[in-house]
Amino acid sequence: MHQDLESILITREEIAAKVAELGRQISRDYEGEEFLAVVVLKGAIIFAADLLRQIDGNVVMDSIAVSSYGASTQSSGVVRFLKDLDESIEGRHVMVVEDIIDTGLTLKYLIENLLSRKPKSLKICPLLDKPSRRQVDIVPDYCGFQIPDRFVVGYGLDFAQRYRQLPDVGVLKPEAYQQG
Ligand code: IMP
Ligand code: MG
Repeated sequence: MHQDLESILITREEIAAKVAELGRQISRDYEGEEFLAVVVLKGAIIFAADLLRQIDGNVVMDSIAVSSYGASTQSSGVVRFLKDLDESIEGRHVMVVEDIIDTGLTLKYLIENLLSRKPKSLKICPLLDKPSRRQVDIVPDYCGFQIPDRFVVGYGLDFAQRYRQLPDVGVLKPEAYQQG
């Protein structure tokens, strides 16, 4: 285990099993229909890479980057658009692949923006969900794991851009973000 982690919350084996299950479910739900996977950079990259390889069907991949201000463990509610989609989503099935829904502020902003572009359908698939922290009403269509109110890193999730490469999802030691 990485020295800055206090514990492992979800192991790589648990993640792989869940991602395979999500892939089967999504493949079934979109059977015969192409969808556009909107990968939310950078946190969802690793999840999306594994998930999309479990999809049996036609997928087009695009990416978008949004960010709350600052390197903090709290969402500010102020969202910046850093990179827009390359593709038009009008009239297409869209699925947003995200790392985590915490307060929901980031995804709420993103969903409203995407809905204004008139997709045929819009679903969201976060790897992780912290329902106890929600400030706006968002329920994911697909979700890997519900987790307690702990700050986690790994499998794409960062603190100040670090720890994304860790293969398991773990709880960061408080010292690690106090000095960060
Ligand atoms: P929200 O706007 O509060 O839902 O926050 C969403 C974003 O905050 C996510 O896309 C993550 O980038 C970040 N975030 C929230 N909780 C965590 C966490 O426990 N670890 C790492 N990043 C997190
Ligand atoms: Mg982040």
